[in-house]
Amino acid sequence: MPVVTPLMQRFGLRHPILQAPMAGGGDTPALVAAVSEAGGLGSIGAAYLTPDQILETARAVRARTARPFGLNLFSPTPVPELPADADRAVARVAPFYAELGLPVPSFPLPQGPDFDAQLTAALDSGAAVISFTFGLPPAAALAAIKARGPALFGTATTVEEAVAWHRAGADAIVAQGSEAGGHRGSFAVDFADAMIGTMALVPQIADAVPLPVVASGGIMDGRGIAAALALGAEAVQMGTAFLTCDEAGVSDSYKAAILAAREHETRLTRAFSGRPARGIVNRFMTAVEPPGETSAALPFPLQNALTRPLRGAAGKAGRAEFLSLWAGQGLRLARRQPAADLVARLAAETEAAIGRLRG
Ligand SMILES: Cc1cc2nc3c(=O)[nH]c(=O)nc-3n(C[C@H](O)[C@H](O)[C@H](O)COP(=O)(O)O)c2cc1C
Repeated sequence: MPVVTPLMQRFGLRHPILQAPMAGGGDTPALVAAVSEAGGLGSIGAAYLTPDQILETARAVRARTARPFGLNLFSPTPVPELPADADRAVARVAPFYAELGLPVPSFPLPQGPDFDAQLTAALDSGAAVISFTFGLPPAAALAAIKARGPALFGTATTVEEAVAWHRAGADAIVAQGSEAGGHRGSFAVDFADAMIGTMALVPQIADAVPLPVVASGGIMDGRGIAAALALGAEAVQMGTAFLTCDEAGVSDSYKAAILAAREHETRLTRAFSGRPARGIVNRFMTAVEPPGETSAALPFPLQNALTRPLRGAAGKAGRAEFLSLWAGQGLRLARRQPAADLVARLAAETEAAIGRLRG
C-alpha cells in the first residue's frame, strides 16, 4: 500500500519526498520541476537570487510543471562589523585567488539582495510553500505570508526552535539533523550544541509540536524514508541525493566529488560563508581552517561575499578543491540519474522497506 500522509494530501503529492532548496545553483528549474512532476515537491533555493531572478526562476519552473513547488529564503541575520583581524581572512584566501588569476575582492564587500524585495517576489512567484532557514523572519514577513496564502515551513535543529516556529504560525517543521549537507539552520541554540542527529531529532520534535514534521539530513534512499516515517515524519527533505541528478546545476567535478567521497569525509566549516555548513573536506577548507586552529573566516555573510568570486570561477573551471562542496553524511549512497528516476526509485524502495518490516 502506497504511503499517504496528511502533508502529502495537502499538496497533492504522490510521494513523501521534498527536494531540498539548494541556494547557489544546484536546484535548477529543470530539477525543481522534474521532482514536482514526478510526484514529490521541488523547491527553489532563492536566498542568493535578486527579486527579478526569483520571478524568472519561478516562471521557468511553472513553464515546465503545473504542480506545486516550494521556494526558500534565508531569514535575515544582522550584518556584523568587519572584525579587527579581517586581514587574516584575506591572507588565507588570497593565494587561491592568485592561483585562478583573479583579484581578491576589496572592502566594503558587496551585500546580498534586499530581503523585503526577495519576499515580495517570493509571494508573487506562485510557490505553494515558502520556507525559511537561519531563524524566524520579521513579524511583518510572517504576516504577509499569512495574508497571501502559501504554506509556511520553518527549519528547526532543536525542539526549542520547532516550538518557536509553531508559535510563529508555521504549517510544518523541517527538522534538520546534524547529518545534513549545507548550512545549519540553527538560531536559538549555539551551533555546536545544536548538532542533533536526524534519528534523535525527528521524534522529539514530532512529540513536542502539533505540526507535520519533514525529516532532513542524511536521508538518501527508501530505507531512510521509511525510517523517517516510522519516527513520526510526514515527509522527508533530501538535498545531497538530488545533487548528483542529471538536472542538478552543480559542476561535474562537484558531482564526481560526492560520488567518490566517503561518510567520514565531510565536516562542518565556516570557511566559505562564515556560517557553519557541512561539506566535503577539500584544500580550501583546510587552508582557511587548519585542524586545531581557530577559523580564519569572517563572520557570515562577509566571508560569503569574500569567497563568492572564487567559488564562481572555480565552478566554471571545474576546480572542486576551491568549491564549497556541500554534502551530507549519507553521500556514499548517492546515485547519478535523472531526477524522475530517482523519485520513482525512492518511492519503490520505501514501499519495499515498509513491506520487509511488515514481513
Ligand atoms: C548544496 C546544498 C545547498 C543547500 N541550500 C539550502 C538552502 O538554500 N536553504 C535551506 O533551507 N537548506 C539548504 N540546504 C540544506 C537542506 O535543506 C537539507 O537540510 C539538507 O540537504 C539535508 O541533508 P542531505 O543533504 O543529507 O539530504 C542545502 C543543502 C545542500 C546539500
